[in-house]
Amino acid sequence: MKDEVVNNLINKENGLYIDCTFGSGGHSRYILSKLDKDSKLISIDRDYDSYKISKKIKDKRFFFYKSLFSNLNIILKKKKIFGKINGIIIDLGLSNHQIKSKNRGFSFKLNGKIDMRMDYTKGKTLFDILNEIDINKLNYIIKNYGNEYFYKKISKNIIYNIKNNKFINNTLYLSNIIKKIKKNSNKNKKIHCSTKTFQSFRIYVNDEINELNILLNNTKKILSKNGKLLIISFNSIESRIIKNFYNKNKKYIKFIKKIKPSYKEIINNISSRSSILRIFEKI
Ligand SMILES: C[S@@+](CC[C@H](N)C(=O)[O-])C[C@H]1O[C@@H](n2cnc3c(N)ncnc32)[C@H](O)[C@@H]1O
Repeated sequence: MKDEVVNNLINKENGLYIDCTFGSGGHSRYILSKLDKDSKLISIDRDYDSYKISKKIKDKRFFFYKSLFSNLNIILKKKKIFGKINGIIIDLGLSNHQIKSKNRGFSFKLNGKIDMRMDYTKGKTLFDILNEIDINKLNYIIKNYGNEYFYKKISKNIIYNIKNNKFINNTLYLSNIIKKIKKNSNKNKKIHCSTKTFQSFRIYVNDEINELNILLNNTKKILSKNGKLLIISFNSIESRIIKNFYNKNKKYIKFIKKIKPSYKEIINNISSRSSILRIFEKI
């Protein structure tokens, strides 16, 4: 959806744009290729690897900050451009380098330590969290952040493995616990049996709901009049947060349209199949 992103994001010459989710830099590079010479792009990401990737972009119009969504306000106020932004893109989920690196622990297809921190320089890993968590909290996370029907059995088995010192700090071991529980129910499902539980852990480890709520709330002050807000979401939890934000802020923000990936895009990139691009405009 790269073209849909730039076509709807860029709406002014000499504009100021923000990519809140630099990731591996795909969107930022494409946006820069379409910006006029006087426009500027500020990109942020909490991931240190994104910071390293950003260093390769040599362009006077480009600025990168290793930052959380929740700290974006501070950066913009320091740069004296708070309230002057013409377009914001937020592309939720995991970047290519995160999902493809076994050491990051996001993938149930690669064997690595169960880390799952988007910023691996700070905070508790999933391994730390699971080793101190109680069953009620674990139930809550897998049920609410993963919409996983078998949350009780999965939680019970994870706690059992930890208590019996069987819990090995790796993704495939964790995935196998889930697989054993869901083996008979998951036969015809399109998604992997570990998808929902892994998603729930990723959301919890990275405090994603809180971060997204803070960012969305701030966008209405960050954007200039008629500024565009583009959000790409991948699951029902993210969709719900976006819809709630919109319903509470119809005074400030107008819904323009929703775009789903084309058949061709899904064939080329299967992970795009659940994505939805929503476009809003500041009133
Ligand atoms: C789907 S990826 C973005 C991919 C990017 N559009 C590209 O073209 O490569 C999402 C990125 O958002 C970052 N991210 C997620 N939550 C964040 C937060 N609260 N603060 C800052 N960055 C965050 C992740 O580290 C990840 O790199």
